[in-house]
Parts: sequence; C-alpha cells; structure tokens
Amino acid sequence: MKFDTPASSNPIDQLKVIGKPASRIDGPLKTTGTAPYAYDRYNVVSNQAYGYVLGSAIAKGRIASMNLAAAKAYPGVIAIVTAENAGKLGKGDFNTALLLGGPEIQHYHQAVAVVVAETFEQARAAAYLIQVEYVRTKGYFDLADEKSKGVAKDDPYTIAESAVGNFSQAFSSAPVQLDASYSTSHESHSMLEPHATIAAWDGDQLTLWTSNQMIAWSVGEISKTLRIAKEKIRVISPYIGGGFGSKLFVRTDALMAALAARAAMRPVKVSLQRALIPNNTTHRSATIQRLRIGATKDGQITAIGHESWSGNLPGGSPEAGAVQTRALYAGANRMTSNRISQLDLPEANAMRAPNEASGLAALEQAMDEMAEKLGMDPVVFRIKNDTQVVPDSPLKAGSTDSQANKNRNPNPPFSLRQLVKCFETGAERFGWHKRNAKPGQVRDGRWLVGMGTASAYRDNVVMKSAARVKLDNRGHLTVETDMTDIGTGSYTIIAQTAAEMMGLPLEKVTVRLGDSSFPASAGSGGQWGGNSSTSGVYAACMKLREAITVKAKAQDPKFDITNAVFADGKIQSKSQSILLADLAGSRGLVAEDAIEFGDLDKRYQQSTFGAHFVEVGVDAATGEIRMRRMLAVCAAGRILNPKTARSQVIGAMTMGVGAALMEGLEVDKRYGFFVNHDLAGYEVPVHADIPHQEVIFLDETDPISSPMKAKGVGELGICGVAAAIANAVYNATGVRVRDYPITLDKLIEKMPTMV
Ligand code: MOS
Repeated sequence: MKFDTPASSNPIDQLKVIGKPASRIDGPLKTTGTAPYAYDRYNVVSNQAYGYVLGSAIAKGRIASMNLAAAKAYPGVIAIVTAENAGKLGKGDFNTALLLGGPEIQHYHQAVAVVVAETFEQARAAAYLIQVEYVRTKGYFDLADEKSKGVAKDDPYTIAESAVGNFSQAFSSAPVQLDASYSTSHESHSMLEPHATIAAWDGDQLTLWTSNQMIAWSVGEISKTLRIAKEKIRVISPYIGGGFGSKLFVRTDALMAALAARAAMRPVKVSLQRALIPNNTTHRSATIQRLRIGATKDGQITAIGHESWSGNLPGGSPEAGAVQTRALYAGANRMTSNRISQLDLPEANAMRAPNEASGLAALEQAMDEMAEKLGMDPVVFRIKNDTQVVPDSPLKAGSTDSQANKNRNPNPPFSLRQLVKCFETGAERFGWHKRNAKPGQVRDGRWLVGMGTASAYRDNVVMKSAARVKLDNRGHLTVETDMTDIGTGSYTIIAQTAAEMMGLPLEKVTVRLGDSSFPASAGSGGQWGGNSSTSGVYAACMKLREAITVKAKAQDPKFDITNAVFADGKIQSKSQSILLADLAGSRGLVAEDAIEFGDLDKRYQQSTFGAHFVEVGVDAATGEIRMRRMLAVCAAGRILNPKTARSQVIGAMTMGVGAALMEGLEVDKRYGFFVNHDLAGYEVPVHADIPHQEVIFLDETDPISSPMKAKGVGELGICGVAAAIANAVYNATGVRVRDYPITLDKLIEKMPTMV
C-alpha cells in the first residue's frame, strides 16, 4: 500500500482497541523470566559450546604477534578464531570499525580473538592465556584538543552546514546577544541485556539467535561480512532487553559466534561481558557546542547560530547537535554546522535521540540564558519565537545543502506543530507561575529549590514496513513481521492495530516478531518503529479485509459489501453477518502487504514536540542535586497506547536525568579508552534518583504521517530533559553549569553563602 496522500477516516479511527491503555502482552513472560532472550536459548539447538571474546589492549596500532599455544592447550578448548585464521571477511555498511580487528587495531577492546570451549569458564580462562604483542601508534583521544586544531582545508571528515540570511551581521547588530559554549559527555547505552548471540550452521545455512533492533539490516550486514547470500542467513530476535541504538547494527557477538561455530563445527554462544561493551561497541560521542543568539529587546530572535563538534573514527558520522536548531525557533538569520574531529576512541554512533538529545542540552540552556538577559519568562520567550514553517529546511546529518536540497521547499510547513500548546498546558499543570525568576531564592529546609523548562523536539521518520496476517478457522489472527520489541511495546500496539482492523478482541490476536523469515519491517530505531510497523500491519489487514469481502460475496451473492463492517469477529452488513472463522475455512486466509511512504515527509516537516518542566532541590551545603518533580507534555500524533507510550516517555526522561546529572564515559587520554566501563563506574539513574514523573499527551492526530495518524514517541521524551534540569539547577542556585553531567564538584565552589 502506497501512502502518498494524507489519511482520511479509516477503521483505526474507531478507537475500540487502539488508543486504549492495554498492558503489554509480553509482560507476563518478562516478569516470570520465561521470555527467551538470546543467551538463554539452550533448547533451540543442541551441543552449544561457549565463546569468549578477547578485546584489544591498545587503542591504535598493530598486532605484532599472537601466541595461542597456551590457550589451545587449556582444558576444554575447542577452537580459537583470530583475523589470521578467520578467512577473508567483508565489511558491513553500518559499522565504521571492523568487528574483528588485527593485525591493524582501530580502537581499544576491538575484538581480536574468540576462544571456544566446553564451558564459559574454560573459554574465559583460555582467552587470557593468549599472548598478544602490540605495536602502539599515536592516537588522538581528546575532543577539545582536536577541535582546537581547527579545520583543515581538506577536511576529510563529514560536515553538515546550513546558512540563511546574514547571520554574522544580524548577530553583531542585535541589541541583546548571547555567545556561550556547552559540552556533553561521551555516553554509553548501558542497556540491561548485553549483546549476545547463539550461532549454528547447518551446512552453509547460518542461524543466529541474537539481540538486535533491525533484523533485515542484520541479515544484510552478516551477508556482506561473511560473504554469503542473504538467503542462507536467518536472524531471530524476538525479545530484547533494551538497545537504545547500541543494537541497531550487527556487533562482535554475532560475527564471532558465527565464525566460532564454523571453526568449532558446532553451535556456539557468545555474550559480550559487561566490561567489554563500552569500548567494544558504540557510544554517543561527546560534543562541544557554541550557541549564539541575537534578539530584539522585546525578545524576537533575529540571529541564531549553532555549531556542534563531536568525535569519531575516520569515516564515522557526527553527533549532529545543531540539527534541530534549523527547525525549532523562528529567526531570519541563521547558521548551523556539525563537524567531526577524528578521535581514535571506540566508534561513536546512535544513542537514543541521536543529535537532538545532545543538541537540545545546549540549545535549551542557551534559550534559558537568553530569556534571563531579556528579562523574559523562558516559557514566554519560547512561545514568542514559535514558527509554523521550517525556517531552514533540515537535512539528514552529513548531507550538504546543494545536493539534497535542490528540489525542496526551503520553508516547508510542519505537518502539525503544537509546541505552544505543550508549554501552555505544562505551565499550568506544573504550577510554573510559582517559579521565582530570581535564582537562589527558594529554600525548603536544607534544599535550594528551582524550576526549569525546555522544549522537546525530535523528527518523525517513516520507513517502509511489511507484515503478514493469517486468519484461521477459529477466527484467530496471527501477525508476522520481523519488527522487534526492544522493551517498547511493539507486540502490544501491533496486536491492537490488527484487532482494531479486523474487529477482533485483543485475545484473538497473536503477534510473532523478530524473525527474518517474516516480512521485513521498519525495525526499531530513531522512534520510527511504532508508527511505521503498525502502518505495515494496517496495510496487510486492509488486504485481508478485501479477501474476506470477496469470500463473503462468493458465499452469499446478496451480501452488501459496500457497507460492511468488521466487528465482533464477523463481517456485518445491515441485515447479514458472517463469522470470520467460517470464511477462513480449514485452509485459513493469508494476506501480506507493506506500507510504502511517498513524499509527504518531504512536503511537510514531520516532527514531534514537547515541553519539559522539572523541579530540583540542591543541598545548600553539599551541592547534591535531587530531582523533585518532572512533567513532560508531548505532542506526537495519535497515541496508539497511552500506557506503553507513557512508559517510553518516562524511560526517556529518566535517561535524560542520567545525561544531566551522572552519565559520562571518562577517557584515559594517554591510552585512549573509556575507564569506567561497567555499571559500577558508569552511573545511570536508579529508582531512588527518580521522583514523581508525569506525562501528558496532547489529544491530536497527524493524518500526514501515516494511516495510523501517529508519530514516533520513544525518543521524544529524552529531548530537552538535560537542559530543563540545568536550568532548574541554575534557578535553584544561581550557578550556571554548561558542562554535562552537572556533578556537585562543578557547583560547590560557586554555591550561594548559607544564611
Ligand atoms: Mo535509536 S538511537 O535509532 O535505537
């Protein structure tokens, strides 16, 4: 089904099942420990051996020699695979560094060997008996240092720039100006379930039971890397214990398990040990961002400039912090740039709301600082600079204007933009009027109390997505698609969609996900999964409805199909009704289709919006920061399931608290690795860190986005949170910290004197 004109009324609008807060249908499996995660799958194939991955001990250089003798002789060892004996490997498109290093080493903890043994303990012990001699070469590990070297004329790294009007002239002549720099830390996804895979070969046929967000991408990447046909590869990933972007691409566990299983001539299971993950897999790059905002005395932005720097390995993409600044606020003169410095740290890539999460951490603090300079309320300042068209049409990070922008409206309208309503609703609900604009004034016992706000903004991306639906003679419907559920609620919203379309109760729908033998879906990433995959199910169900209608007509030529509805397990017209179970018959009915999106996402800017409000307490003596209240008001199209959507938003808000107050991979700048590479040293929020959280969804539908009239919501919730917290800390204390995470050492010296 092609979706190239805005949706009119359709069966989803009935809202009998869609829009209801159904509990996750995979919930009981998760809470009873019976959802089979990749590494748990002892019973899918017999005779599984254990693989253990050895990571490089240097960040950059070469392996001079590897002595495997002691490891090979260790009890229980079956095989050892290194780059030397792995055979010729290709490289996938999505990873920058190779998943198996050697002799050249590109980053610390890059996999250099996998040891296969009868037990996990044997494999681990043997791995540390491998003697590797390295030749270290000079690497670059400090973003600030590399940025200060400036841009070479022949800058080999990706840059995305935009300019509208005359920024520098407008900025320098603006009556009120802000010029400030901000920085964010390297961050690690730190999802609960590690990367893990069981690999089994049956002749030249490879099956991978793994943990991955994007099944079809994985098949393609494994095909390229192992140089075998896609048809020979099956990837199965029905349950995933979090990903946040770290499982968008095939990682070392999958490749090593496949190579190890081939060498061992039996199935092999590999899980990356927690302490390997931050340096072996991807992370969100640190950024350094400069914001310049110029405005008239009454708060109209006349110039806005945002420059963002991040780091990556050669060939990697930027953490493009400036992207949302092209679209979020009005202003006639503007510029943005997203640059990369080469860093020889592990590969940087997408982590929840890549670009915007980092970019808004800077932009939304700058907006707060600017509001203060103007003597304006930060909510009022944002509302005053709202825009209903994109002032500087955004492009994908990494592309340049001239090519991609040729045939584009430079100022496309938003499909739907209710940012102002988010702020108005949130300000009222939160009691924003009680905020004292003067910092450091509100005291509650030992706590200095402050409030902060920030905009949330994140693109809505749509992606082709296919599904198959099968109706059986009990009137039961099974949906099959390779869509993944990374803890997000995909199973549930897909079941709700199918139930709504076919007029069935939720219990009559079974959803099967995460298997490359099913039709290829959008997968889970970039908050495109929910809207796109349910639209694919919508398309398949439309086909099934047609097939059922034809059958009904065949069975009863007088059946009035033009006015037929699907309800209560039947197809019904005014005077007749036939059970779907009867029409399905003993052979059942099957339909398959995909949703394919036309150019509506080019004619309209489809984005999601929100307003965050937070209240923090800062210990007047120690500078310890505690969250007290959080509220997000979100405008993200139709909310398919308010319970699962709320869970996504509060999870994202929690992740935003991490980014604001505690998360940061510390770089050893001599040897080039992340030092705090486990959950003891890399802190993420726990329940005790998170106070009351409230989420309000505006009641809206966006017919330009999809037949579901929904949009993404899974990443919107993190966008802007860090800045809202920084702004609240400032309001509480009068101390402006522009360097995330805001730890108490950055506050303590500047805290107001206690009275
Ligand atoms: Mo997301 S960072 O595309 O999983």
